[in-house]
Amino acid sequence: MSDRPTFRTQLCDILEIEYPIMLAGMGSMGKATPPALVAAVSNAGGMGVIGGAGLEPETIRQKIRETRELTDKPIGVDLLLPVNLDTNAEPTRTALRQQIERDYPKHYALMRDQLAKHGVEEVRVESETVVSVDQTRAQVDVVLEEDVQVFAAGLGDPSWIVPQAHEKGMTVVGLVGSPRNAERQVAAGCDIVIAQGYEAGGHTGKIASLPLIPQVVDAVAPIPVVAAGGIADGRGVAAALSLGAIGVWVGTAFIVAEKGETHEENKQQIIDGHSQQFDPQRWYTGKPSRLFGNDYIKAWEASGLDPLPLPYQRVITDDFNESVAAAGKLELHMNPAGQISGMITERKPAKQIMEELVSGTIDVLNETRDKVDIG
Ligand SMILES: Cc1cc2nc3c(=O)[nH]c(=O)nc-3n(C[C@H](O)[C@H](O)[C@H](O)COP(=O)(O)O)c2cc1C
Repeated sequence: MSDRPTFRTQLCDILEIEYPIMLAGMGSMGKATPPALVAAVSNAGGMGVIGGAGLEPETIRQKIRETRELTDKPIGVDLLLPVNLDTNAEPTRTALRQQIERDYPKHYALMRDQLAKHGVEEVRVESETVVSVDQTRAQVDVVLEEDVQVFAAGLGDPSWIVPQAHEKGMTVVGLVGSPRNAERQVAAGCDIVIAQGYEAGGHTGKIASLPLIPQVVDAVAPIPVVAAGGIADGRGVAAALSLGAIGVWVGTAFIVAEKGETHEENKQQIIDGHSQQFDPQRWYTGKPSRLFGNDYIKAWEASGLDPLPLPYQRVITDDFNESVAAAGKLELHMNPAGQISGMITERKPAKQIMEELVSGTIDVLNETRDKVDIG
């Protein structure tokens, strides 16, 4: 008999896990959700999810297999899907750079001025793929071929994947930032909807978790909802359950885990930072994304320029990140993270983060019952 505390919801039955806590699939070139962290969350009774966005299909395969060496528990993979599946008009990175230099010279100039100001030499990303339908299809094929229990669609329409995923017995989850998108993801065949509030790290919608979660719960019932955005302790988990969610999808709180491979400087920004230093803006990819407001972001904000749409702004960011990483100036590297960073003050092993989420939730649920006098 295990002496671990018990705390189960419907999510545990659907995913065959012990606790209704999922590690958010974060696609930061594999650094935020490396195999050791994904496996640690699954081994601690939650559901580890690999962030596969931006990774070559064979790299995703390798990461799944490395994770499998470390755990036999259920795991998932998250991918960002293209909004449409038209393979025409997929320019190479070189073509996009040329277009930016021709049509938006001030944007490239700002990036180069910032590199020069910080004494960093420009290094260009080698991969020619920026956004590619073919690559996404190949990523999806890998996920369907390997031993994975959950497919998560971070963006886009997963309807073309659902039948094959279901045939394999996989659960398909779709992230949404509004009740309307939640209805779309259910129409696309998702088994679970993840409602991600405005306070979340990374790409974000406009509706905060408190109003979003119950609206999504009502919009898609009886399809179950998992809550994301601003959850880092038992109070957040208990709140999500009170709003009608059957579990949580936790990102920022796991970035600082000891097994996370996010650059130490970026982890430190989360540990030292206040919530108001993590604002959403479009300087990262062209779409609203919540990041730490470092000196590079401040320079864009002061520039009077408008962010370029995806994928143009992304091309500039990728080259900037590559350059500052090569020069070891990681305090300038883009650092997506959520408002909950203001509450995160130390690095811990993932296992401990999981244990504290579980025991904290049980405590809050018990304390709430004791504190409320129901007549
Ligand atoms: C560094 C980082 C990268 C992310 N990358 C992805 C991604 O590739 N796909 C996705 O669906 N969500 C992505 N997200 C969003 C998370 O899945 C999750 O919804 C969010 O982190 C939850 O909010 P929290 O950060 O407040 O816990 C990312 C978030 C962060 C912080």
